[in-house]
This record gives sequence, structure tokens and C-alpha cells, in this order.
Amino acid sequence: KSFLYKLWKGDVSSKMLNPRLQKAMKDYLSTNKHGVRFKGKRNSKLTGDQLFCELKERVNVKTIDGKEAPFSTLGWEKHVPQIPLGKLYTHGFGSCAVVMSAGAILNSSLGDEIDSHDAVLRFNSAPTRGYEKDVGNKTTMRIINSQILTNPNHHFVDSSLYKDVILVAWDPAPYSANLNVWYKKPDYNLFTPYVQHRRKNPNQPFYILHPKFIWQLWDIIQENTKEKIQPNPPSSGFIGILIMMSMCNEVHVYEYIPSVRQTDLCHYHELYYDAACTLGAYHPLLYEKLLVQRMNKGLQDDLYRKGKVILPGFKSVKC
Ligand code: C5P
Repeated sequence: KSFLYKLWKGDVSSKMLNPRLQKAMKDYLSTNKHGVRFKGKRNSKLTGDQLFCELKERVNVKTIDGKEAPFSTLGWEKHVPQIPLGKLYTHGFGSCAVVMSAGAILNSSLGDEIDSHDAVLRFNSAPTRGYEKDVGNKTTMRIINSQILTNPNHHFVDSSLYKDVILVAWDPAPYSANLNVWYKKPDYNLFTPYVQHRRKNPNQPFYILHPKFIWQLWDIIQENTKEKIQPNPPSSGFIGILIMMSMCNEVHVYEYIPSVRQTDLCHYHELYYDAACTLGAYHPLLYEKLLVQRMNKGLQDDLYRKGKVILPGFKSVKC
């Protein structure tokens, strides 16, 4: 059976990846750049429903609120939005779309379906213009990594991609989630452009994710995986799925678990081929996907043909 078929069934391990990706994963494990010291147990064998409830109970979407050092001393309470992310929409959203940037979404004709959702989440610099038929044109929220804010090629200040949407930024912090250490040495310095953008656009909701939230997700992925996962933060895609599960009644995730259209094309908007984009090298992406597959409530046929997974929102299920 093909790798893709096994992934749809949730029946894969890293041993089935190509040698280059296996080597990359090993190297990340031995480097342990973020100083991960996992204290939990691996391989707890939760069912999809139990895993959902574990996530619902433990996951707390936390953003920098300016109340902790060093941000408190630096006057960040005045820089961050007055309304927290969780309170922006008092009743949350009904149904939500999470649109992954995978090449496999090309020629999907999913655009109308995606736009029919109440809210649409996209990632980093993924465009809609020119790709409407396949990815839609509605964007409610964008999750951006710290490279988007700091790399001039992304034109963060001018590009329309980052206007009129809720922005949520993140940067890999040490596993200790020590904010002082992180502030002094972020992966990419997102703090300066963040404050500048807030000053210029005080009415745009724009948040920075708290490292505790990101590493809490990592802990849960590791606890529910038999193998040792890469000691690096989960991908933006996984982070986004969890944010939408906490804000929406239902979450439709497109081309995270790949459809039959899957190739090594990394992004739908770029001619760059690398299997790592879909299966992970730096991020524990394969393991994230296995957890999401386990919780899928959608039809198997939608998974094959649309690359679509349906997850309930946290409010929608009693645990
Ligand atoms: O590459 P980028 O991080 O901007 O893509 C957004 C998210 O989409 C990734 O974090 C990953 O979760 C997902 N993705 C994927 N397969 C790809 C490309 C992206 O699952 N080929």
C-alpha cells in the first residue's frame, strides 16, 4: 500500500520516510536547539475522542498580554490589543476553514466551499489573488511566523496580505518559555516590527502567541506519539488548527492530510519541490498530522478527494 494510503489510515512511522528526511529528523533530535526536556510519558494510546477531550481540557490559547516581565517593564500593556484574541468574537464562529498552503490544493476547485465558511484562516504569505478558484478569497485571520515580520522580501509593512485581517505571530522560544531569555534572543526579532506595526495600525487585532501555548501543544503531540518527535515547535498549521478549534463550532481543515493530488510541490504559490514541506523536517509535522487524522470526523472520501478533515470545536462537544 502507498504511503499516502497509510497516512489516510493513520498507519505510518518515520521509518517510512525517505532517508534524507529521517537523517534531518535525527539531526534535530541531537541538536535540540530549543533545550527541550520532556518530562511526560510517550505513547499514551488515546482514541480520537479521548485525544480531543485531552486537547480541550489542556490547550489554552495564550498570547503575550504585557503583564509578565520583561514585557511589563517595557510598557507592553499599552502595545497589545485591549481585547484578547479569545474575546474578539464573543460567540465565536460557526464553521471555520483552515487552508493549508500545500501544493496539493492546486486544481482542487475548493475556493467556493472555503469561502462559504464563517471564518477562514490562512498562513504566512499564502496569497489568494490568482488562486481564488482553488483557495477562495476570504481571509479572516493569518498566522505568521517571525520571519514574515523580519525578512524584507515579505514586505510585511506594505503588503495587502497582512491588512484587514486578524494577525497572530509566533517565534520559536526556549522550551523553558522563559520570556526574558526569549526577548533577548528570539529566533527572528519580531518584537520591534510588532510594536511598530501596533503603533501604525492600532485598530488591527494583532497578537503574539505565548511560548507556553506552543510548547504545551508540543508536549501533547509527544505524549501521544510512540517515537521521539523533533524537539522543535509544531508547525503553523497545527497551531492554527488548535486556535480555530477554540474559536469555532466546527473546523474544516484543507490539505493538511494530503489528498490524491499530493506531490512534493511545497506551496501552491511557489515552484519549489520538497517532501519536507508535507512530512516535516524541522517541525514534527508527520506526528501532528497523525493526531489530526485520529480526530477526523469527516468522510473518508472527503479526505481522499478534498484533503479535508472535519474537527469539532471545543465548545461543541461535552467531555
Ligand atoms: O509553509 P508554511 O508554514 O507557510 O505553511 C503553512 C502550514 O501548512 C504549515 O505550517 C503546514 O502545517 C501546512 N503545510 C502542509 N504541507 C505543505 C505545506 C504546508 O501541511 N506541503
